[in-house]
Amino acid sequence: MSNRPLNVGLVGGGKGAFIVHPHQKAIHFDGTRRVVAGALFPEPQVALAEAANWPYPIRGYGSYDAMIAANKTLPEADRLDYILIVTPNFVHFDPAMKAMQAGIAVFCEKPLCLNLKEANALVQAAHKLNVPFAVAHTYLGHWTTRFSRFIVQSGLLGDVRWVDSYYIQGWLATRLEATGQQQASWRVDPKRAGGSGCGGDIGTHALMQLRYVTGLEVTEVSAQMETFVAGRQLDDHFTVYCRLSNGGKALVRASQICIGAKNDLGLVVAGTKGTLRWRQEEPESVTICLPNQPDRVYWRGAVTGGDGFLPKDLPADLMAEPTIPAGHPEAFHDAFARLHRSFEVDVRKWKAGGKFNRDGSKYANVEDGWTGIAFIETSVKSAASNGRWTRLPKL
Ligand SMILES: NC(=O)c1ccc[n+]([C@@H]2O[C@H](COP(=O)([O-])OP(=O)(O)OC[C@H]3O[C@@H](n4cnc5c(N)ncnc54)[C@H](O)[C@@H]3O)[C@@H](O)[C@H]2O)c1
Repeated sequence: MSNRPLNVGLVGGGKGAFIVHPHQKAIHFDGTRRVVAGALFPEPQVALAEAANWPYPIRGYGSYDAMIAANKTLPEADRLDYILIVTPNFVHFDPAMKAMQAGIAVFCEKPLCLNLKEANALVQAAHKLNVPFAVAHTYLGHWTTRFSRFIVQSGLLGDVRWVDSYYIQGWLATRLEATGQQQASWRVDPKRAGGSGCGGDIGTHALMQLRYVTGLEVTEVSAQMETFVAGRQLDDHFTVYCRLSNGGKALVRASQICIGAKNDLGLVVAGTKGTLRWRQEEPESVTICLPNQPDRVYWRGAVTGGDGFLPKDLPADLMAEPTIPAGHPEAFHDAFARLHRSFEVDVRKWKAGGKFNRDGSKYANVEDGWTGIAFIETSVKSAASNGRWTRLPKL
């Protein structure tokens, strides 16, 4: 393969769609990736019309089946290197599986799919077919999340005792779905969203943030899932008390009915030596609290080692992450770009016939997606028996 930009095909994204747009900006961030094709809508005629109206030229297809089938007939320069799946949850499994079977790498939105049966099949296929697979857990892409991971996993806070990982929103505090609002409509429908509404939609982000930063697994859950808005089928408030693999405890909580809350995702990690605090609405800094000392606030772009808390030598790959000087804020789009950039490295290695990294250290992988689904299914079971402690399955 030449060093041409990687070619990306979109699955979903037409007619008022949301998350395709941060993704497509992030894909073009470095000039080394580009969107070249799309199957943007379930109805073929609309899909083609939406592609023709896309802000820059792309090959339009009437369906993702057609896009995947056409791929092998194209010259190498035009072939897809990966697809980006930005459809509602019930349209993740099928395009992901078909792309892998056609030798196309997959970048899939979260939650990975609808249930563990689908998740098992995707993990098995990704391994058997040896295809790179990323799951879009956006907030892993913040430099400060990677820095937090280094701090916690290098033991600077001691043993982790307690984690509070939360994602609080207010946009579903009323029955928005009854107005036909596109993003609300499918999120509250079990057939299209899966077994949990709020938990699947944003609780999975809180879980992934906990796992990525601490390196710990949730082994057992006691869950409460509430539906505050009358007439809604799925939970809009999700609270899960967790046992962690090191013996510590955690709360993974999410809500969509807290009026005024926007995208209040945050993480508190309390260790035996100190506490880390991070919030995605102010994602440029990490606060470290140590006993009997003023709090330390570390800003992206202005971190130096050997300051009495951090070791002198900080990890070379962390410090070499492409970024901009401190004070020019990085945010949501930069986080997406960092995930696509990291995925690009693996797709290029794979295309060149080499080994690629699938350890989840730079973006969530298919196993992380599986864990999100296992967490949701186990929480649904626990909540159905009034919060009984329930063990998560193992992959
Ligand atoms: N990572 C994040 O931060 C984040 C944020 C928002 C949404 N998401 C996830 O992204 C996915 C999409 O969410 P959204 O809010 O953008 O939804 P949306 O409703 O705004 O967009 C979904 C798109 O998929 C299209 N679509 C549906 N079925 C299709 C099919 N068979 N073929 C082609 N296109 C089809 C729709 O027409 C629409 O264009 C969901 O899985 C959601 O959980 C992730």
